[in-house]
Amino acid sequence: MREMKKSLKAFLTLRHQQQHQQHSSPNLPQQHPQPPINMEYRKYFLILAVGSTFSVVLFFLTTLSSPEGGLFSFLSPSSTSSSSSIFVESKLKISSSSSSSLSSTPRIAYLISGSIGDGDMLKRTLMALYHPNNQYVVHLDLEAPSTERLGVRRYVEGHPVFRAVGNVRMITRANLVTYRGPTMVANTLHAAAILLREGGEWDWFINLSASDYPLVRQDDLLHVFSDLPRDLNFIDHTSNIGWKEFQRAKPIIIDPGLYMTKKSDVFWITQRRSVPTAFKLFTGSAWMALSRSFIDYCIWGWDNLPRTVLMYYANFISSPEGYFHTVICNAQEFRNTTVNSDIHFISWDNPPKQHPHYLTLRDMSAMVDSNAPFARKFHPDDPVLDQIDSELLFRKPGMLVPGEWCAGQSINGSDPCSIVGNATLLRPGHGAVRLQRLMELLLSKENFRPRQCK
Ligand SMILES: *[C@@H]1O[C@H](CO)[C@@H](O)[C@H](O)[C@H]1NC(C)=O
Ligand SMILES: *[C@@H]1O[C@H](CO)[C@@H](O)[C@H](O)[C@H]1NC(C)=O
Ligand SMILES: *[C@@H]1O[C@H](CO)[C@@H](O)[C@H](O)[C@H]1NC(C)=O
Ligand SMILES: *[C@@H]1O[C@H](CO)[C@@H](O)[C@H](O)[C@H]1NC(C)=O
Repeated sequence: MREMKKSLKAFLTLRHQQQHQQHSSPNLPQQHPQPPINMEYRKYFLILAVGSTFSVVLFFLTTLSSPEGGLFSFLSPSSTSSSSSIFVESKLKISSSSSSSLSSTPRIAYLISGSIGDGDMLKRTLMALYHPNNQYVVHLDLEAPSTERLGVRRYVEGHPVFRAVGNVRMITRANLVTYRGPTMVANTLHAAAILLREGGEWDWFINLSASDYPLVRQDDLLHVFSDLPRDLNFIDHTSNIGWKEFQRAKPIIIDPGLYMTKKSDVFWITQRRSVPTAFKLFTGSAWMALSRSFIDYCIWGWDNLPRTVLMYYANFISSPEGYFHTVICNAQEFRNTTVNSDIHFISWDNPPKQHPHYLTLRDMSAMVDSNAPFARKFHPDDPVLDQIDSELLFRKPGMLVPGEWCAGQSINGSDPCSIVGNATLLRPGHGAVRLQRLMELLLSKENFRPRQCK
């Protein structure tokens, strides 16, 4: 990955020089006449990454340029020229080579964040989500007392498995995060940047809080995701902003978390602004699973859209419910990769209040029936969490979720996962069946294309 970055950087520099000098360097690949600049960059990025134009063509054929039909319908042989190679296998080869990994087991990069009082719940969520193939960033914001942050840090550093595998990081320079303010988006981008730089290979970025909990084991999730094109983005979105236009888009707020060291609420400017015309606003759930290529785009911002939109959202109330949605739907090369779902079970009151209601044992069957891989939000130590542990995750108190990677034995109550075996092996169970059902629904002809960026 680092090599790739280096060559991309070298290329961008070259290109820059070339534009100024108006003559071409012999080292540069031949340019095609028309494509828009951002597409061109992306294409060269992929050429550098994949090393073969043919795979790039295939890559574009697979997810981006099939305007019709659901995903599974074009996984089967289609009317493209290289008819024999549009199977899942070839797609997997392409997508895994684009993250230069040899196995087809995907890797997820998780951000788990919390604030004051979330320390214990954060540890529990981390245990429930842990898999050695993944990457984890843990963040307890500046409002949490340093003793609490230290407690989580000691736990992460002292855990024998986390230490042996080395895939759990704690953000040591904690950020001040204001509820509903742009500092929440800034914190998410910070974690994403850390994961791009230090997290090695990964395919999707998933943002969770300490009050989220998984409903499937990582073995299930990785198994189902291994059949998906790596460029899909799970993000619930709509351009029908309705009441939010008046209450969200027009007011102007300032988030003191951007420049103060002590936490306080956002404050409101009396003047209002008009709805932007340079890009179209989208809104949706603050929970999402984003592809590495899209995160790369958001961090590097090579056509500046991610930065322009970020500056706009700096004064927007509840920016986590709009920033990524607006960027992805206004970027031509990414809008066709959206799957309109936050893959979370969230239970809103009717009529909806500001917050979803806390899930309890009464919601257990609805959670299972939703086939969603994650649910929120939970009170710390609510009995329903114990039930999820025992019935869905098969996790014993204080232990990790068992998976095929666990190579130890469970004699005398010892954790079989204290010995790390082969992390690319998966043992999918009922959770995988449920999640597969959800994916088939989301990627069906009726749901996938017709619900993109509308
Ligand atoms: C995205 O899909 C639309 C039709 O839904 C199509 O016109 C467009 O060319 C596609 N964009 C890319 C980049 O493939
Ligand atoms: C990311 O996670 C936090 C949980 O702490 C959440 O509040 C935030 O809205 C999420 N989404 C984004 C886009 O930052
Ligand atoms: C299990 O525990 C019992 C009593 O604590 C001990 O006698 C026995 O040797 C242990 N077995 C193993 C395999 O560690
Ligand atoms: C893990 O399992 C895969 C599939 O069986 C195998 O190809 C790979 O070599 C194994 N890795 C290790 C480190 O044993």
